[in-house]
Amino acid sequence: MSTRIGILTGGGDCPGLNGVIRAATLHARHSHGWEVVGIRNGFEGLYEQDYVDLHSHTVQHVLSRGGTMLGSSNRANPFAYPVKLPDNRVEIHDVSARCLEHLAKLDLHGLIVVGGDGTMSFAQKFIGRGAARIVGVPKTIDNDLEATEYTVGFQTSVEIVTEALDRLHTTAESHERIMVVEVMGRYAGWLALTSALAGGAHVALIPEIDYDPERVIAAFHKRHGRGVSYSIVVVSEGAKPKGGKLSVVTAADPTKQEKLGGAGQWLADYISQKTDYEVRTTVLGHIQRGGSPCAFDRELATRFGVKAVELIAEGKFGHVAAIESGKVVAKPIEKAVKKLKLVDPGGELVRTARGIGIELGA
Ligand code: F6P
Repeated sequence: MSTRIGILTGGGDCPGLNGVIRAATLHARHSHGWEVVGIRNGFEGLYEQDYVDLHSHTVQHVLSRGGTMLGSSNRANPFAYPVKLPDNRVEIHDVSARCLEHLAKLDLHGLIVVGGDGTMSFAQKFIGRGAARIVGVPKTIDNDLEATEYTVGFQTSVEIVTEALDRLHTTAESHERIMVVEVMGRYAGWLALTSALAGGAHVALIPEIDYDPERVIAAFHKRHGRGVSYSIVVVSEGAKPKGGKLSVVTAADPTKQEKLGGAGQWLADYISQKTDYEVRTTVLGHIQRGGSPCAFDRELATRFGVKAVELIAEGKFGHVAAIESGKVVAKPIEKAVKKLKLVDPGGELVRTARGIGIELGA
Protein backbone atom coordinates (compact mmCIF):
# COMPACT_ATOMS: atom_id res chain seq x y z
CA MET A 1 0.00 0.00 0.00
CA SER A 2 1.20 3.49 -0.88
CA THR A 3 2.42 5.63 1.99
CA ARG A 4 1.91 8.90 0.19
CA ILE A 5 -1.04 11.26 0.29
CA GLY A 6 -1.82 14.30 -1.84
CA ILE A 7 -3.44 17.63 -1.15
CA LEU A 8 -4.74 20.41 -3.39
CA THR A 9 -6.59 23.70 -2.87
CA GLY A 10 -9.17 24.64 -5.50
CA GLY A 11 -11.47 27.56 -6.30
CA GLY A 12 -11.13 31.04 -4.82
CA ASP A 13 -8.54 31.37 -2.08
CA CYS A 14 -9.38 32.35 1.49
CA PRO A 15 -7.55 32.79 4.78
CA GLY A 16 -6.93 29.46 6.54
CA LEU A 17 -5.98 27.28 3.56
CA ASN A 18 -2.36 27.15 4.65
CA GLY A 19 -3.49 26.01 8.09
CA VAL A 20 -5.20 23.01 6.49
CA ILE A 21 -2.10 22.17 4.42
CA ARG A 22 0.12 22.51 7.49
CA ALA A 23 -2.04 20.37 9.77
CA ALA A 24 -2.54 17.64 7.17
CA THR A 25 1.21 17.55 6.42
CA LEU A 26 2.25 17.46 10.08
CA HIS A 27 -0.31 14.82 11.04
CA ALA A 28 0.38 12.63 7.99
CA ARG A 29 4.14 12.77 8.53
CA HIS A 30 4.34 12.63 12.34
CA SER A 31 1.46 10.29 13.17
CA HIS A 32 1.45 8.02 10.11
CA GLY A 33 4.90 8.37 8.57
CA TRP A 34 3.33 9.22 5.20
CA GLU A 35 4.86 11.38 2.51
CA VAL A 36 2.79 14.35 1.39
CA VAL A 37 2.67 15.73 -2.12
CA GLY A 38 1.11 19.11 -2.81
CA ILE A 39 -0.65 19.52 -6.17
CA ARG A 40 -0.30 23.09 -7.42
CA ASN A 41 -3.16 25.35 -8.54
CA GLY A 42 -6.01 22.96 -7.80
CA PHE A 43 -6.90 20.39 -10.45
CA GLU A 44 -4.79 22.34 -12.95
CA GLY A 45 -1.71 20.89 -11.22
CA LEU A 46 -3.06 17.39 -11.66
CA TYR A 47 -3.49 17.96 -15.39
CA GLU A 48 -0.09 19.68 -15.71
CA GLN A 49 1.59 17.24 -13.26
CA ASP A 50 2.81 20.19 -11.22
CA TYR A 51 3.67 18.83 -7.79
CA VAL A 52 5.71 19.78 -4.73
CA ASP A 53 6.80 17.62 -1.80
CA LEU A 54 5.55 18.92 1.53
CA HIS A 55 7.64 18.48 4.65
CA SER A 56 7.28 19.66 8.24
CA HIS A 57 9.86 22.39 7.63
CA THR A 58 8.11 23.66 4.48
CA VAL A 59 4.83 24.21 6.34
CA GLN A 60 6.18 25.44 9.65
CA HIS A 61 5.68 29.17 9.07
CA VAL A 62 2.47 29.16 7.05
CA LEU A 63 -0.26 29.03 9.71
CA SER A 64 -0.65 32.79 9.99
CA ARG A 65 -0.35 33.48 6.26
CA GLY A 66 -3.40 34.06 4.07
CA GLY A 67 -3.81 32.66 0.56
CA THR A 68 -2.57 29.20 -0.29
CA MET A 69 1.06 28.10 -0.58
CA LEU A 70 -0.08 25.59 -3.24
CA GLY A 71 -1.82 28.16 -5.41
CA SER A 72 -5.37 27.86 -6.61
CA SER A 73 -7.38 28.45 -9.73
CA ASN A 74 -11.08 28.90 -10.23
CA ARG A 75 -10.76 28.15 -13.92
CA ALA A 76 -9.38 24.67 -13.28
CA ASN A 77 -12.51 22.70 -14.14
CA PRO A 78 -11.07 19.42 -15.47
CA PHE A 79 -14.39 18.67 -17.17
CA ALA A 80 -14.37 21.96 -19.12
CA TYR A 81 -10.76 23.01 -19.22
CA PRO A 82 -9.36 25.82 -21.39
CA VAL A 83 -6.60 24.18 -23.45
CA LYS A 84 -4.22 26.38 -25.46
CA LEU A 85 -3.67 24.98 -28.97
CA PRO A 86 -0.36 25.32 -30.88
CA ASP A 87 -1.87 28.18 -32.95
CA ASN A 88 -2.68 29.99 -29.65
CA ARG A 89 -6.42 29.40 -29.93
CA VAL A 90 -8.07 28.23 -26.70
CA GLU A 91 -10.51 25.33 -26.80
CA ILE A 92 -12.56 23.88 -23.97
CA HIS A 93 -11.72 20.20 -23.45
CA ASP A 94 -12.72 17.54 -20.96
CA VAL A 95 -9.29 16.64 -19.52
CA SER A 96 -10.62 14.51 -16.68
CA ALA A 97 -9.36 11.22 -18.20
CA ARG A 98 -5.84 12.66 -18.35
CA CYS A 99 -6.16 13.83 -14.72
CA LEU A 100 -7.28 10.34 -13.70
CA GLU A 101 -4.22 8.85 -15.44
CA HIS A 102 -1.95 11.26 -13.58
CA LEU A 103 -3.67 10.50 -10.31
CA ALA A 104 -3.15 6.77 -10.84
CA LYS A 105 0.53 7.46 -11.61
CA LEU A 106 0.90 9.38 -8.34
CA ASP A 107 -0.29 6.22 -6.55
CA LEU A 108 -1.72 8.07 -3.56
CA HIS A 109 -3.10 6.42 -0.47
CA GLY A 110 -5.58 9.30 -0.42
CA LEU A 111 -6.14 12.76 -1.86
CA ILE A 112 -7.35 15.72 0.23
CA VAL A 113 -9.34 18.21 -1.81
CA VAL A 114 -9.74 21.57 -0.08
CA GLY A 115 -12.46 23.58 -1.76
CA GLY A 116 -15.90 25.07 -2.01
CA ASP A 117 -18.93 23.68 -3.82
CA GLY A 118 -17.34 23.89 -7.30
CA THR A 119 -14.14 22.07 -6.34
CA MET A 120 -16.11 19.51 -4.31
CA SER A 121 -18.37 18.79 -7.27
CA PHE A 122 -15.28 18.06 -9.42
CA ALA A 123 -14.03 15.77 -6.65
CA GLN A 124 -17.37 14.00 -6.61
CA LYS A 125 -17.26 13.51 -10.40
CA PHE A 126 -13.77 12.01 -10.11
CA ILE A 127 -15.04 9.66 -7.42
CA GLY A 128 -17.84 8.67 -9.80
CA ARG A 129 -15.20 7.89 -12.43
CA GLY A 130 -13.24 5.60 -10.18
CA ALA A 131 -10.92 7.88 -8.19
CA ALA A 132 -12.42 6.63 -4.98
CA ARG A 133 -9.71 7.64 -2.50
CA ILE A 134 -10.72 11.28 -2.10
CA VAL A 135 -11.67 13.20 1.05
CA GLY A 136 -12.57 16.87 1.36
CA VAL A 137 -12.11 19.97 3.50
CA PRO A 138 -14.74 22.69 3.04
CA LYS A 139 -13.51 26.24 2.64
CA THR A 140 -15.13 29.43 1.42
CA ILE A 141 -15.80 32.89 2.78
CA ASP A 142 -19.41 32.36 1.62
CA ASN A 143 -20.06 29.66 4.30
CA ASP A 144 -22.65 28.18 1.94
CA LEU A 145 -21.86 24.45 2.10
CA GLU A 146 -24.71 22.37 3.47
CA ALA A 147 -22.28 19.83 4.97
CA THR A 148 -20.90 22.08 7.70
CA GLU A 149 -21.85 24.83 10.12
CA TYR A 150 -18.60 26.65 9.37
CA THR A 151 -16.23 26.67 6.41
CA VAL A 152 -12.58 27.70 6.64
CA GLY A 153 -12.20 31.40 5.77
CA PHE A 154 -15.68 32.60 6.66
CA GLN A 155 -14.92 33.92 10.13
CA THR A 156 -11.89 35.90 8.97
CA SER A 157 -14.03 37.60 6.33
CA VAL A 158 -16.60 38.47 8.98
CA GLU A 159 -13.79 40.10 10.99
CA ILE A 160 -12.60 42.06 7.94
CA VAL A 161 -16.08 43.32 7.03
CA THR A 162 -16.82 44.17 10.67
CA GLU A 163 -13.67 46.24 10.93
CA ALA A 164 -14.59 48.05 7.71
CA LEU A 165 -18.07 48.78 9.10
CA ASP A 166 -16.58 50.15 12.33
CA ARG A 167 -14.47 52.53 10.26
CA LEU A 168 -17.38 53.56 8.05
CA HIS A 169 -19.54 54.39 11.10
CA THR A 170 -17.28 57.24 12.16
CA THR A 171 -16.93 58.86 8.75
CA ALA A 172 -20.65 58.35 7.98
CA GLU A 173 -21.58 60.05 11.23
CA SER A 174 -19.18 62.96 10.70
CA HIS A 175 -20.59 63.72 7.24
CA GLU A 176 -24.20 62.68 7.89
CA ARG A 177 -24.05 60.22 5.01
CA ILE A 178 -25.57 56.94 4.04
CA MET A 179 -22.82 54.41 3.50
CA VAL A 180 -23.69 51.48 1.28
CA VAL A 181 -21.24 48.60 1.68
CA GLU A 182 -21.28 45.74 -0.82
CA VAL A 183 -19.92 42.46 0.51
CA MET A 184 -19.23 39.11 -1.12
CA GLY A 185 -20.98 35.82 -0.38
CA ARG A 186 -22.40 34.97 -3.80
CA TYR A 187 -25.97 33.61 -3.42
CA ALA A 188 -25.84 33.30 0.39
CA GLY A 189 -26.21 36.08 2.94
CA TRP A 190 -24.11 34.61 5.76
CA LEU A 191 -21.23 37.05 5.36
CA ALA A 192 -23.49 40.08 4.94
CA LEU A 193 -25.87 39.32 7.79
CA THR A 194 -23.28 38.11 10.30
CA SER A 195 -21.10 41.16 9.63
CA ALA A 196 -24.12 43.48 9.77
CA LEU A 197 -24.91 42.15 13.25
CA ALA A 198 -21.29 42.36 14.39
CA GLY A 199 -20.69 45.76 12.79
CA GLY A 200 -23.85 47.48 13.98
CA ALA A 201 -25.33 48.06 10.51
CA HIS A 202 -28.77 49.65 10.22
CA VAL A 203 -29.83 47.93 7.01
CA ALA A 204 -28.82 44.44 5.79
CA LEU A 205 -29.87 43.18 2.38
CA ILE A 206 -29.27 39.51 1.62
CA PRO A 207 -29.95 37.22 -1.36
CA GLU A 208 -32.47 35.16 0.59
CA ILE A 209 -34.83 38.14 1.07
CA ASP A 210 -35.71 40.23 -2.01
CA TYR A 211 -35.96 43.77 -0.75
CA ASP A 212 -38.20 46.77 -1.33
CA PRO A 213 -35.93 49.82 -1.82
CA GLU A 214 -38.77 52.10 -0.66
CA ARG A 215 -38.76 50.29 2.68
CA VAL A 216 -35.04 50.94 2.96
CA ILE A 217 -35.62 54.65 2.32
CA ALA A 218 -38.45 54.65 4.87
CA ALA A 219 -35.98 53.24 7.42
CA PHE A 220 -33.64 56.21 6.80
CA HIS A 221 -36.55 58.67 7.22
CA LYS A 222 -37.45 56.96 10.50
CA ARG A 223 -33.90 57.25 11.79
CA HIS A 224 -33.73 60.88 10.72
CA GLY A 225 -37.07 61.51 12.41
CA ARG A 226 -35.40 60.34 15.62
CA GLY A 227 -32.54 62.77 15.02
CA VAL A 228 -29.99 60.19 13.73
CA SER A 229 -28.42 61.55 10.59
CA TYR A 230 -26.42 58.66 9.12
CA SER A 231 -26.94 55.02 8.23
CA ILE A 232 -24.80 52.00 7.41
CA VAL A 233 -26.25 49.66 4.78
CA VAL A 234 -24.73 46.24 4.14
CA VAL A 235 -25.68 44.83 0.74
CA SER A 236 -24.75 41.32 -0.21
CA GLU A 237 -23.48 41.08 -3.80
CA GLY A 238 -26.30 38.57 -4.42
CA ALA A 239 -29.10 40.77 -3.03
CA LYS A 240 -31.76 42.01 -5.42
CA PRO A 241 -34.76 44.30 -5.26
CA LYS A 242 -38.22 42.75 -5.46
CA GLY A 243 -39.00 42.00 -9.10
CA GLY A 244 -35.42 42.98 -10.03
CA LYS A 245 -32.44 41.01 -11.25
CA LEU A 246 -29.12 39.87 -9.83
CA SER A 247 -26.29 42.33 -10.47
CA VAL A 248 -23.97 40.35 -12.74
CA VAL A 249 -20.62 41.68 -14.01
CA THR A 250 -19.65 38.68 -16.11
CA ALA A 251 -21.95 35.88 -17.23
CA ALA A 252 -21.08 32.25 -16.51
CA ASP A 253 -19.46 30.11 -19.20
CA PRO A 254 -18.52 26.40 -19.17
CA THR A 255 -15.22 27.22 -17.44
CA LYS A 256 -16.40 29.55 -14.71
CA GLN A 257 -19.32 30.74 -12.59
CA GLU A 258 -20.96 34.10 -13.16
CA LYS A 259 -19.29 37.04 -11.42
CA LEU A 260 -21.53 39.20 -9.27
CA GLY A 261 -21.08 42.91 -8.59
CA GLY A 262 -22.92 46.21 -8.62
CA ALA A 263 -25.74 45.48 -6.16
CA GLY A 264 -24.48 48.20 -3.80
CA GLN A 265 -24.12 50.82 -6.52
CA TRP A 266 -27.59 50.03 -7.85
CA LEU A 267 -29.10 50.76 -4.44
CA ALA A 268 -26.95 53.86 -3.90
CA ASP A 269 -28.13 55.27 -7.25
CA TYR A 270 -31.73 54.51 -6.36
CA ILE A 271 -31.46 56.31 -3.02
CA SER A 272 -29.73 59.31 -4.62
CA GLN A 273 -32.41 59.60 -7.31
CA LYS A 274 -35.27 59.37 -4.84
CA THR A 275 -33.95 61.39 -1.89
CA ASP A 276 -31.64 64.22 -0.87
CA TYR A 277 -29.47 61.98 1.28
CA GLU A 278 -25.79 62.02 0.53
CA VAL A 279 -24.80 58.46 -0.36
CA ARG A 280 -21.42 56.78 -0.79
CA THR A 281 -20.67 53.22 -1.87
CA THR A 282 -17.83 51.00 -0.69
CA VAL A 283 -17.14 47.69 -2.43
CA LEU A 284 -14.91 45.62 -0.16
CA GLY A 285 -14.07 43.11 -2.90
CA HIS A 286 -11.13 40.76 -2.52
CA ILE A 287 -9.92 42.48 0.66
CA GLN A 288 -12.48 40.15 2.24
CA ARG A 289 -10.43 37.13 1.13
CA GLY A 290 -6.97 38.44 1.85
CA GLY A 291 -4.52 38.57 4.71
CA SER A 292 -3.94 36.62 7.86
CA PRO A 293 -6.60 34.17 9.12
CA CYS A 294 -8.22 34.94 12.48
CA ALA A 295 -7.71 32.57 15.43
CA PHE A 296 -11.01 30.78 14.77
CA ASP A 297 -9.99 29.94 11.19
CA ARG A 298 -6.51 28.84 12.23
CA GLU A 299 -8.04 26.47 14.74
CA LEU A 300 -10.74 25.25 12.34
CA ALA A 301 -8.17 24.73 9.56
CA THR A 302 -6.00 22.70 11.94
CA ARG A 303 -8.91 20.53 13.10
CA PHE A 304 -10.08 19.97 9.52
CA GLY A 305 -6.55 19.15 8.28
CA VAL A 306 -6.09 16.54 10.98
CA LYS A 307 -9.58 15.13 10.40
CA ALA A 308 -8.95 14.79 6.65
CA VAL A 309 -5.87 12.67 7.34
CA GLU A 310 -7.88 10.61 9.82
CA LEU A 311 -10.56 10.02 7.20
CA ILE A 312 -7.88 8.64 4.87
CA ALA A 313 -6.40 6.51 7.67
CA GLU A 314 -9.85 5.09 8.43
CA GLY A 315 -10.61 4.49 4.75
CA LYS A 316 -13.57 6.85 5.00
CA PHE A 317 -13.25 8.14 1.45
CA GLY A 318 -15.95 10.22 -0.22
CA HIS A 319 -16.40 12.23 2.99
CA VAL A 320 -15.57 15.78 4.03
CA ALA A 321 -14.54 17.11 7.43
CA ALA A 322 -17.38 19.19 8.86
CA ILE A 323 -18.51 21.04 11.98
CA GLU A 324 -21.74 19.90 13.59
CA SER A 325 -22.78 21.29 16.98
CA GLY A 326 -19.22 22.48 17.51
CA LYS A 327 -17.66 19.05 16.89
CA VAL A 328 -15.61 17.90 13.92
CA VAL A 329 -17.44 15.09 12.13
CA ALA A 330 -17.41 13.39 8.70
CA LYS A 331 -20.16 14.10 6.18
CA PRO A 332 -20.68 12.53 2.74
CA ILE A 333 -19.24 14.70 0.00
CA GLU A 334 -22.73 15.00 -1.61
CA LYS A 335 -23.64 17.16 1.36
CA ALA A 336 -21.03 19.67 0.24
CA VAL A 337 -22.36 19.95 -3.30
CA LYS A 338 -26.04 19.08 -3.55
CA LYS A 339 -27.57 22.30 -2.43
CA LEU A 340 -26.31 25.57 -1.07
CA LYS A 341 -26.73 26.31 2.61
CA LEU A 342 -28.69 29.55 2.70
CA VAL A 343 -29.79 31.88 5.49
CA ASP A 344 -33.27 30.91 6.68
CA PRO A 345 -35.47 34.02 6.23
CA GLY A 346 -37.50 32.89 9.26
CA GLY A 347 -34.49 31.69 11.26
CA GLU A 348 -32.78 32.88 14.39
CA LEU A 349 -30.18 35.09 12.67
CA VAL A 350 -32.85 36.99 10.75
CA ARG A 351 -35.06 37.25 13.85
CA THR A 352 -32.11 38.64 15.81
CA ALA A 353 -31.55 41.29 13.16
CA ARG A 354 -35.22 42.22 13.13
CA GLY A 355 -35.26 42.12 16.94
CA ILE A 356 -32.79 45.01 17.15
CA GLY A 357 -34.42 46.98 14.36
CA ILE A 358 -32.09 46.18 11.44
CA GLU A 359 -34.08 46.82 8.25
CA LEU A 360 -34.00 43.79 5.95
CA GLY A 361 -36.03 45.39 3.19
CA ALA A 362 -39.06 43.09 3.50
O1 F6P B 1 -16.82 32.13 -3.49
C1 F6P B 1 -15.96 33.05 -2.92
C2 F6P B 1 -16.07 34.38 -3.62
O2 F6P B 1 -15.19 35.29 -2.98
C3 F6P B 1 -17.47 34.96 -3.70
O3 F6P B 1 -17.89 35.53 -2.48
C4 F6P B 1 -17.32 35.93 -4.83
O4 F6P B 1 -18.55 36.15 -5.49
C5 F6P B 1 -16.37 35.23 -5.75
O5 F6P B 1 -15.67 34.28 -4.98
C6 F6P B 1 -15.38 36.12 -6.45
O6 F6P B 1 -14.67 35.36 -7.34
P1 F6P B 1 -13.37 35.85 -8.10
O7 F6P B 1 -12.21 35.69 -7.16
O8 F6P B 1 -13.28 34.96 -9.27
O9 F6P B 1 -13.58 37.29 -8.46
